[in-house]
Amino acid sequence: MHNHWQSEVVLKIFFHLVGWTATALLLLQLIKVDIPEAPQTTAADKISAPPEIATLLRRSCNNCHSNTTHWPWYANIAPISFEVKGHVRDGRKWLNFDIWNQYDEKKQQERLQGIVDTIDAKMPLPSYIWAHPNANLSKEERRSIKTWAQALIKE
Ligand code: HEC
Repeated sequence: MHNHWQSEVVLKIFFHLVGWTATALLLLQLIKVDIPEAPQTTAADKISAPPEIATLLRRSCNNCHSNTTHWPWYANIAPISFEVKGHVRDGRKWLNFDIWNQYDEKKQQERLQGIVDTIDAKMPLPSYIWAHPNANLSKEERRSIKTWAQALIKE
């Protein structure tokens, strides 16, 4: 019957697509993303912040802005790994709270200003909040981080 023949073709195309997608995903796994090793640090290099601020930074920022990244299970699965590792690599490069005291004063001041400028909306990254709802910050929490950073900025 005509109909029967049609659904067979559709099924065939479907299984071809599944096969090709699976093959493409498997091949993607050959691409490994290596990010630079976390820099050497001592306890003295760490930023010192009041406990309530430190807690917020740990909860919402440290996965990308410190050496203590808790990698999710999918961090090694391409193509998600490209995104996750890229974020940690660039996040650490921009701002690493574990090497804060290795920064000179100018860099510290720039980063504090960066925190003031990004904390209302840009950070933590929206895609990250989507995957880690716990990392989201309330308005008040954002405000207390902002107030803390502003107080450290020298006019
Ligand atoms: C998912 C990873 C991730 C998280 C979580 C994250 N960041 Fe970032 N952050 C990045 C990346 C990547 C960059 C650099 C590229 C960019 O600006 O998008 C960056 C850049 C920054 C910068 C520099 C931007 C500038 O223009 O000076 C600041 C400041 C910053 N983040 C603060 C924070 C703070 C504060 C938190 C926590 C409330 C946070 N980030 C959470 C990934 C992250």
